[in-house]
Amino acid sequence: MTSNHVAIFDTTLRDGEQSPGCSMTTQEKLTMAHALEDLGVDIIEAGFAMASEGDFAAISTITQAIRKPRIASLARAKTEDIEMAARALQFADRARIHVFLASSDLHLEYKLKIGRQEALDRTAESVRLARSLVDDVEFSPEDATRSDREFLIEMVRVAIEAGATTINMPDTVGYTTPEEYGRMFREVRERIPAVNEKGIVLSSHCHDDLGLAVANSLAAIQAGARQVECTINGIGERAGNAALEEIAAALYVRADHYGATSSIKLEQLYPTSQVLGQIITFTPSPNKAIVGANAFAHESGIHQHGMLANPLCYEIMTPSLVGVSRTHLVLGKHSGRAALRHRLEQLGFTLTREELQQTYYRFVALADRKKNIYDQDLIGLLPDKIRERRAVPVSELD
Ligand code: KIV
Ligand code: ZN
Repeated sequence: MTSNHVAIFDTTLRDGEQSPGCSMTTQEKLTMAHALEDLGVDIIEAGFAMASEGDFAAISTITQAIRKPRIASLARAKTEDIEMAARALQFADRARIHVFLASSDLHLEYKLKIGRQEALDRTAESVRLARSLVDDVEFSPEDATRSDREFLIEMVRVAIEAGATTINMPDTVGYTTPEEYGRMFREVRERIPAVNEKGIVLSSHCHDDLGLAVANSLAAIQAGARQVECTINGIGERAGNAALEEIAAALYVRADHYGATSSIKLEQLYPTSQVLGQIITFTPSPNKAIVGANAFAHESGIHQHGMLANPLCYEIMTPSLVGVSRTHLVLGKHSGRAALRHRLEQLGFTLTREELQQTYYRFVALADRKKNIYDQDLIGLLPDKIRERRAVPVSELD
């Protein structure tokens, strides 16, 4: 693995599951874990062992069925959580305990009701305990982006001294910006020599409250993060987590810019998104990048004409790259003659220039009244003499 390899830490089964309508049974989590393994993720956060018996069972089941990715369980900085996580992970070939404790004064004062020194002591004790149980421990100072910078640095130092091997710096409430988040990673690396000396992996974890989760994650990669935490379809708390498919596609399509690679098998992105959509109660919105129903659909005449001339005019990647079977030229009121002719030819009708012109007028009039134009609508626009010219009977159209 080269130093510009970014590990993909998928938290669909933990942070993703923490969003309304997304809870999954053990069997569903297992199905999803298989899909994530096929996708090529490096780490699967399978759940939060202490949260429920169901989560414990799901983690344990996944560790016995999944071999390639490392399996992680989340744990609060508490003895009982960490011991429970270790028990859930006991059958894993490669296990990780992911310990988190808030670092912002807001969370310490109002949520945990503890002072900074106690937070540092708990960090040291919990990371040490986790390291005595597994050799791979991730520590997350929760709400890192709203924490006092000096205290955050101190907490990270303590976690590394106690044995953390990955330091994840979550933007828990989706507050940061790309420039600011990148600066935080650079500062942590520069001010804590142990990060480089001990080969500590820095990790990003972004939420999408301002719609910046993916941009922030990519900024962290540019600033040296070598793990990104993300979810399929960007599901997760509130507005969601950074979308795995967007990060993986950006690293590939803009390799010239980011200069970092991942092990994601891009052609599995769409199938994996579909598996998740079938398990939870919703699919991504149609305009969702990479995996939305319209991500490779073109309606306007100018775009359709360009697409037919050369798909590069309006597509920065082929649909097949991410596992989508084909580009979709949607016929609607913005479409032009070129797309209409193309679709009619696909349906087996070759029209003269004059016939196309007449059909096009009827098509635009229909499209003004109707949102979706189906193949049968198009055929209905054609005069009998054109329909009769078609070799395959209209009734056999699929
Ligand atoms: O958003 C967050 O801070 C988290 C941590 C538990 C890593 O999900
Ligand atoms: Zn989170």
